[in-house]
Amino acid sequence: MRILFIGDVVGSPGRDMVKDYLPKLQAKYKPNVTIINGENAAAGKGITNKIYRSFLEQGAHAITLGNHTWDNKDIFEFIDDAKCIVRPANFPEGTPGSGALLLNINGTEIGIINLQGRTFLPPLDCPFKKADELITAMKKRTKIIFVDFHAEATSEKIAMGWYLDGKASAVVGTHTHVQTADNRILPNGTAYITDVGMTGPYDGILGIDKDVVLKRFLTNLPVRFEIASGRVQLSGVIIEIDSKTGKAQKIDRIQINEDHSFFE
Ligand SMILES: [Fe+2]
Ligand SMILES: [Fe+2]
Repeated sequence: MRILFIGDVVGSPGRDMVKDYLPKLQAKYKPNVTIINGENAAAGKGITNKIYRSFLEQGAHAITLGNHTWDNKDIFEFIDDAKCIVRPANFPEGTPGSGALLLNINGTEIGIINLQGRTFLPPLDCPFKKADELITAMKKRTKIIFVDFHAEATSEKIAMGWYLDGKASAVVGTHTHVQTADNRILPNGTAYITDVGMTGPYDGILGIDKDVVLKRFLTNLPVRFEIASGRVQLSGVIIEIDSKTGKAQKIDRIQINEDHSFFE
């Protein structure tokens, strides 16, 4: 079982990157499952139904989210009907949508879980306990479980990797938008990376126009965030899992940009 995961897609430059490169990545890696983090897909803030649909049409099987889940009001109109959207599972009880998804890919089931960290982010239910609860339930159906842990602190993400080592097939970090070089298989068979990185313009600050963000840092005045222009990247990982045991065998980073194209 091969899983292709694409990190935080930011605005139309990020969406264009997905449109251009997803077919090439699928041809090269032949993933059984494609998952996209879409929390910044609509102008950096949330996701619309149209964008969600277009990701599915382009071959994604599931869309994970994060702290920007509710930023575009469109989400409230469609999240309860969107069977392939997974928002952080540790949001308060009664929140629209679902934090876990069981997909059936040609007879093989795969569980997908989205969780959000609590360090330097709003307080939520415990992501570790929520992971336990969801994984215990999913294990009755499948050994293949993918976790997108959307968190700010490196320590919290590494802690989750160790906590779920041997329980989940993969724990990948999102949210900080810069790909880390620590992809590895943990001792009990969990594929791990602290952050997959973002898919969008990299001449800004985490995908946002650098002058706007600098103004905020320098003056602390309120500013209107705009998507950066300039060069664009796609960040992802490709994970190989033994379907029988649910253990990961390989996790490789994917980084495509205009300076050294992956496909050259
Ligand atoms: Fe993000
Ligand atoms: Fe985020």
